[in-house]
Amino acid sequence: MSELLRTKPLDRIMAEAEQHGEHTLRRALGPFNLIMIGIGAIIGTGIFVLTGQAAATNAGPAIVISFTLAGIGCTFAGLCYAEFASLIPIAGSAYTYGYATLGEIFAWIIGWDLVLEYAFGAATVASGWSGYFVSFLRDFNIQVPPQWTATPGTELLLFQGRWSPLNTIQTSLQSAGVSAASLPHVTANFNLVALVAIAIVTVVLVIGVRESANLNSAMVAIKVGVVFVFIGLATSYVLKNTEVAAQHWHPFIPPNAGHFGEFGWSGIARGAAVIFFAYIGFDAVSTTAQEAKNPQKDMPIGIIGSLVICTVLYIVVAALLTAIVPYKILNVADPVAVGVDAIGVHWGSVMVNGGVVAGLASVMLVMLLGQSRVLYSMSKDGLLPKWASDIHPRFRTPWITSIVVGVFAAVFASVLNIRDLSALVNIGTLLAFVIVCFGVWTLRVRRPDLHRPFKTPLVPVIPILGALISFGMMASLPLATWVRLLVWLVIGLFIYFFYSRHHSLVGKSPSPPPRVRE
Ligand code: ALA
Repeated sequence: MSELLRTKPLDRIMAEAEQHGEHTLRRALGPFNLIMIGIGAIIGTGIFVLTGQAAATNAGPAIVISFTLAGIGCTFAGLCYAEFASLIPIAGSAYTYGYATLGEIFAWIIGWDLVLEYAFGAATVASGWSGYFVSFLRDFNIQVPPQWTATPGTELLLFQGRWSPLNTIQTSLQSAGVSAASLPHVTANFNLVALVAIAIVTVVLVIGVRESANLNSAMVAIKVGVVFVFIGLATSYVLKNTEVAAQHWHPFIPPNAGHFGEFGWSGIARGAAVIFFAYIGFDAVSTTAQEAKNPQKDMPIGIIGSLVICTVLYIVVAALLTAIVPYKILNVADPVAVGVDAIGVHWGSVMVNGGVVAGLASVMLVMLLGQSRVLYSMSKDGLLPKWASDIHPRFRTPWITSIVVGVFAAVFASVLNIRDLSALVNIGTLLAFVIVCFGVWTLRVRRPDLHRPFKTPLVPVIPILGALISFGMMASLPLATWVRLLVWLVIGLFIYFFYSRHHSLVGKSPSPPPRVRE
């Protein structure tokens, strides 16, 4: 039992970080860069794809309330991440915090769980990316063969010039009085477009992160630009068509359709659990802690700053999107493009599609990068085999891990649908949030003496609220998602008990002498 709960001493973590520090990037990131990294990781498939789907099937215009609830929960969890990130400014993020505070078994669970967040997350984003990429090419009259753009077995119909899954356009077909049987249709083989996207990002990561950093900044700028252009176009449309907008917003909370999660208040709760995906990524700021100039001060600014900015943008985008088109037609692969089409600005649609294609690439990059870093840290601790931290002699990147993760993510992206993928990512990430919230509280009780440059306010109230809201969102997800999470955790525990526990280096070697003030 004591083995399972052994913790990795903080001074040892800090000493190792110093040793590794010589081989990592310079400490070059200031508060502005950190906020940009956060925004780069956060804005993605969640706002550009899942918002439309959640509005159409769960919450209607009240998706705005879902965004507010999820934003509040994330801010509470974000404050806990900020305390940890300033106290333990180490690349391993939640995995390292768990190891330092709750014990090895919890660290393993978080690390294993972060695979759901990062690898499956990258797969989800690739799936969302494919929808906009296909839409972007269509703007130039290039049609990707539809059978290579969706998960195996999906029935795709050609309706109003676009190939869409049958289940997502049923409402639109009914309102248009068109029978599905009268339309051309194909059955998808698998999502080759998403697979190729992950493959390209993986190659970039193996070749080197330094090259990708500049590219990343450009992609973030484009993505934020797209959000602002959408807000500008949509606001001017709504101001000119206030009656149409009012109609679309009526009723603001559509009545429950008879099942949990289909509109009404339970729909708002499930909507929050679905679009929670849109907020994932602020925790990625904490993985750059060893590259920050002044992590103690700037980590909290980066985490909370990016979170607050994105929350405001999301609420505004969701409100406008559901005002310019009826929420029922938003269950498509490219809802924001559908919104811009409705405004009737052709260049707007081309720009949104192009911008989203560029912008989502940056999210895949950050997620796959985060994944290889966490696995690298776990391997350095002995919990995973040595090859997982093998660095390529020329590219200086954890190449084997990057390739293995890339292959898995590419396969998931090509065969699993975005809804199931994102739900699994959400439940896994929310579980990590719950553990981090409790970790902050536990460490305050166990080690009140530690120097905490940033303190989560009102402990234990904020950690408890963060954990409760996160758990509430988990509870709103479908049963099938819970089953998948449990299967994933059982596989993880199996690996832990048969491999990691016996190879853990924390259990074997003595700590190096403390070199850092606690
Ligand atoms: N928050 C990121 C996205 O929405 C993961 O794509």
